[in-house]
Amino acid sequence: MNKMSPLLVLVSILVINTSVSAETDSRIALNLPTQMEEHLLGNMRQHLVVINRLLDLVGQEKLTEAAELAEAELGMSSLDKHGASHIAQFYPVQSANFGTEMHKAASRFARVAEEGDPLESYRAIGAITQNCVGCHATAKVR
Ligand code: HEC
Repeated sequence: MNKMSPLLVLVSILVINTSVSAETDSRIALNLPTQMEEHLLGNMRQHLVVINRLLDLVGQEKLTEAAELAEAELGMSSLDKHGASHIAQFYPVQSANFGTEMHKAASRFARVAEEGDPLESYRAIGAITQNCVGCHATAKVR
């Protein structure tokens, strides 16, 4: 059998990659007013900081602190702070549902962490982040 030339391999890889990313990006563009878009992205970066902090705290078995942080920053108690009801109307329904589930999962995490089992708490973080991943697959800012 002929060996493929390195150039052909490279071209094939580029073509395959392009078509894969073009096909998988079926996300709906939110087209928010600029200020809301900046606010949303700022919130998002904060979400990631919080998740990182939770992983850190659970690793150190500081579960009470983790519970308080999750409830205040991501849980049902944080809805007003993030202007959730305002932004939710711009999301397609399925994206908004991931948002609601993310807040619920964060409050559930807080209750699990309060019980004091690090492994269960760690699992409960996964129940939060699956909603980050879910929503990101459905929506983009533009
Ligand atoms: C309800 C939908 C939704 C949920 C839930 C959600 N995100 Fe996002 N996030 C978005 C959208 C929309 C964008 C913009 C993506 C784009 O335009 O490519 C985004 C962008 C981001 C960004 C990039 C910010 C920037 O400045 O570019 C980060 C980081 C992020 N999200 C983290 C998270 C984390 C962590 C979670 C879960 C704790 C989460 N998000 C949950 C909708 C969501």
